[in-house]
Amino acid sequence: MFYGNSFSDRKFRGQVRKYPLNYGGLASYNQSLMTTLKFAVLPGDGIGPEVMAAALEVLTRAAETEGLTLEPREADAGGVAIDRHGSALPDETLRVCEKSDAILFGSVGGPKWENLPPKEQPERAALLPLRKHFSLFANVRPGLLYPELIDASPLKAERIRDGIDLVCIRELTGGLYFGQPKGTRELEDGDVEAVDTMVYKKSEIERITEVAIATARSRQKRLCSVDKANVLENSVLWRKTVTDYVAAHAPEIELSHMYVDNAAMQLARDPNQFDVILTENLFGDILSDEMAVICGSLGMLSSASLGLVENRHGHRFGLYEPAGGTAPDIAGKDLANPCAQVLSGAMMLRFSCGLDALADRIEAAVRQAVVSGTRTGDIAFGGKSVGTREMGQAIMENL
Ligand code: IPM
Ligand code: MG
Repeated sequence: MFYGNSFSDRKFRGQVRKYPLNYGGLASYNQSLMTTLKFAVLPGDGIGPEVMAAALEVLTRAAETEGLTLEPREADAGGVAIDRHGSALPDETLRVCEKSDAILFGSVGGPKWENLPPKEQPERAALLPLRKHFSLFANVRPGLLYPELIDASPLKAERIRDGIDLVCIRELTGGLYFGQPKGTRELEDGDVEAVDTMVYKKSEIERITEVAIATARSRQKRLCSVDKANVLENSVLWRKTVTDYVAAHAPEIELSHMYVDNAAMQLARDPNQFDVILTENLFGDILSDEMAVICGSLGMLSSASLGLVENRHGHRFGLYEPAGGTAPDIAGKDLANPCAQVLSGAMMLRFSCGLDALADRIEAAVRQAVVSGTRTGDIAFGGKSVGTREMGQAIMENL
């Protein structure tokens, strides 16, 4: 049976604003003074709750120094929500999110829920509907490896002597993930057929291109759009749209195009040839995992998912989450690296609050803590390592 879109049709309708083209980064353009930040906290499963606790401590301390009050509101999502409420994304959780300025997300999933039907598993049933509900079409994934941590990367040191620094802008609410029809059915001859539909509108490509342009403008102004235009109709439209859009709106950006298979290879060969990568949903999913592995530890990588909706403060509503997953093997043992969660919180302050200076300070504190040798096991290279809590404390001391 082909099934319809199982996601909530009750789309969130906040105030919608087009991405302005002329601002430095992706951050705010409305510097209204903000004194309280209400954000939903969805710690989720596995290591989620412990890295979230460490991150909230860091964020609270950092905010205090700027006279900003944080009002985190915790809600259940993922496996824990399935256990407690019978749904990975309960209505109550959605309501908490709708009333917030941003969502700080931990991670969801784990062996306990692996035998559920795929559509009901925590990752798919919590994350995808959240993205769709809030139209979070722009996924910003930095691939950052400090030069001091190059040992953590599987790449040869001489290729990444100065570390790695690139950003992947992944389209997040279109393409094969959400296209209709989608489903599995038995055919008359007894065979079984499954269909996913890859579909993009020109307008969807343009709006994600706008985000990529804004990102490139705040960096080295080099943009590489990744597609499969030698095979896919979608990619032909993608390439033409990106080319036209950049030519019309951002001629100062150096635009290149690359097929996705080549991009996967080039990332492993010489990641710093890229500054900003722009790509569609599934390609971005795959390339961003590759980016994560070449950057050494998943425990260091943050991400932001941004949409069109503005929060109360005139900044962009977004969902912020670490890239690392729930790491069930080390959950509850005070071993997990909280840096990615802290850095995701910094992105939240940057994009959903316009607090760039504060975000910069938190990012610098994480870096300083790590560089000065306070490291969790994933980045300690067999040397002395600390636990989640101690890592959080070290970051606070470096604020
Ligand atoms: C990611 C994840 C998700 C995705 C899964 C958990 C649905 O892999 O955020 O990259 O495929 O987008
Ligand atoms: Mg992924």
